[in-house]
Amino acid sequence: MKIIAHRGASFEAPENTLAAFGRALDAGADGIELDVYAIEDELIVFHDRYLERLTATPGRLCDLTLAQVRQLKIFGQQRIPTLNEALAFIAGRCLVNIELKGPVDIQRMRSCLDYAVQACQFAPEQLLVSSFNHHWLQQLKRQQPTQVIGALTTCCPLDYCVFAERLNAWSVHIDVDFVTPELVADGHQRGLQVYVFTVDEAHDIEDLYRMGVDGIFTNHPAHARNVLAGLPV
Ligand code: G3P
Ligand code: MG
Repeated sequence: MKIIAHRGASFEAPENTLAAFGRALDAGADGIELDVYAIEDELIVFHDRYLERLTATPGRLCDLTLAQVRQLKIFGQQRIPTLNEALAFIAGRCLVNIELKGPVDIQRMRSCLDYAVQACQFAPEQLLVSSFNHHWLQQLKRQQPTQVIGALTTCCPLDYCVFAERLNAWSVHIDVDFVTPELVADGHQRGLQVYVFTVDEAHDIEDLYRMGVDGIFTNHPAHARNVLAGLPV
């Protein structure tokens, strides 16, 4: 079962920062998940629409200029990286899951993905783009049919993973609260990887491993690695 560091190793360092990505790599994570918004013509790595939880500034992220975003500090410590900075830092050392939180220009997205492959040592299959907005994924897939995409859901749909198959996704990413053995089996039958978020507790890691889940998103990859090491093969 793959271990994907959720917003980097966000239990150990401020989320979605180079520090958190470094800790994830140190922990031997198989992948790093990060969240992306477009500001002006740049893609930046940040989770929230509002600034209060993560920075000392109130208000909405979308109301800032790129220059203002670049002045912010996450928990007073780390800069908000651009997607290209994050890709250059991770440099092909593990899979990167780019979660689209807001609408992005597809050409801009594609240029970041090209930069990752051409300048940052990534193989194309190490770049997984996901979103809860399946329309954005569909647009990306139509313009770039070879792009690997993951369809996010918080619910367990009546027809299980049909939505992901329709998108020609590589994976379905489902909330730990709603994943079931039936959904996992359905995803596998459709040729999909099934990843589950966000999983930090040992009991959940054990249950999901036994369920045959392919990967988990965790804030604490070192802990998840230890839990998995203690389970029978
Ligand atoms: O991509 C998995 C997970 O990150 C989705 O939820 O809110 O943590 O971005 P969220
Ligand atoms: Mg996310």
